[in-house]
Amino acid sequence: SLNARLGGDEVVAKATKSFYAKVLKDETLKPFFKNVDMAKQTKKQTDFNIFAFGGSEKWYGRKLTEVHKYMGVSNANFDKVGEYFSESLRELGVSEDLIREVEQCNEKYRSVVVTI
Ligand code: HEM
Repeated sequence: SLNARLGGDEVVAKATKSFYAKVLKDETLKPFFKNVDMAKQTKKQTDFNIFAFGGSEKWYGRKLTEVHKYMGVSNANFDKVGEYFSESLRELGVSEDLIREVEQCNEKYRSVVVTI
């Protein structure tokens, strides 16, 4: 799976953690997470990423459409989030080929996350 090729759960967990540090430093993204428990969110996003990258069979959390429904995420927000995740992978030494695969995988969720 892509998850295994990225280096497994541990690498995905590290990337997700460093990714949220970047997201929270971004003034355009920070407000979305104002009332969110980031420790829990990091755990959920890690689990989801592992699932999305084929490292587990099932996602036990909420439906992404429901989660992001009234959030008002724009394409620009979505692009920024993707860029930060790619940066975090790059910092962990993940190859550009694999980063491209991750970006293609994320792209599948654009239409359910972006609502404005
Ligand atoms: C929550 C996935 C993009 C903001 C979540 C959760 C997942 C997720 C799995 C946790 C669901 C649960 O509670 O069970 C994704 C994916 C994205 C994406 C796969 C893109 C590929 C975004 C973007 C934003 C965003 C672009 C905002 C700029 C949030 C917020 C929560 C959340 C604020 C917390 C909701 C809450 O607990 O109240 N997302 N997301 N997400 N997402 Fe996203």
